[in-house]
Amino acid sequence: MSAYIVLLGPPGAGKGTQAEAITKTLGLPHISSGDIFRENLKNQSELGKVAEGFMKRGELVPDDITIAMIKERLTRPDCADGALLDGFPRTPAQAEALAGMLAELDGKVKAVPYINVAEAVLIERLTGRWTCRAQGHIFHEKFNPPKNAGRCDFDDSELYQRDDDKAETVKRRIRVYLEQTEPLIDYYRKRDLLIEVDGTKPIEQVTEELLVALSVRK
Ligand code: AP5
Ligand code: MG
Repeated sequence: MSAYIVLLGPPGAGKGTQAEAITKTLGLPHISSGDIFRENLKNQSELGKVAEGFMKRGELVPDDITIAMIKERLTRPDCADGALLDGFPRTPAQAEALAGMLAELDGKVKAVPYINVAEAVLIERLTGRWTCRAQGHIFHEKFNPPKNAGRCDFDDSELYQRDDDKAETVKRRIRVYLEQTEPLIDYYRKRDLLIEVDGTKPIEQVTEELLVALSVRK
């Protein structure tokens, strides 16, 4: 049975940063719902046009659209042996849908690392974030600066600030998280899948803790 990992945590907790680091070690594809939406936005696909307004306002894209998008992605061959999900599920309905789609794929959620970071820290993280235009690599002006200002360390593409990383939109995203996504902490704790890590430690230390915690989960 294929095992899927769900990364949980508020906006700015470090889901994308940690996913980049641990998927290399685990040999799993990194499926980020936010990255897929941003890619569709860039290409101005139908999905991108529908998602755009919700993302700009810092709201969630409706469940039916998001679930269909992830279902399509998880049925591609590279996810047959498992995947790491970053940013999905984000509502109880999405969590139920994930359980259903994995059952169809003869898979299951193996573990749910929850990266815990206090709200006060999130705003500084997101307003100082720089994202790579080509592949979405993540930097921070203070906590993880690129070697050359404004350029990605990995592919030398331009770094930009996400549209939804303005202070006002960040606050909205955190509110939406508390209302709609936080209930998933209990949802997965009840199913004995939650692994809580302290996301305020330095990036490398969080990576180490995640890898140790995941290695003991079979
Ligand atoms: P999405 O792209 O998923 O955004 P998010 O969940 O708000 O999370 P972020 O990407 O902002 O934060 P992160 O936890 O990945 O942090 P990162 O590693 O970058 O979603 C965007 C939008 O798409 C949503 O608002 C919604 O509209 C839509 N959407 C997506 N999924 C959806 C779904 N399932 N349903 C409905 N709508 C959906 O780190 C942040 C910064 O902190 C970086 O600068 C990084 O360098 C720095 N940092 C990371 N770790 C540390 C550390 N340990 N110490 C110091 N700095 C650190
Ligand atoms: Mg992210």
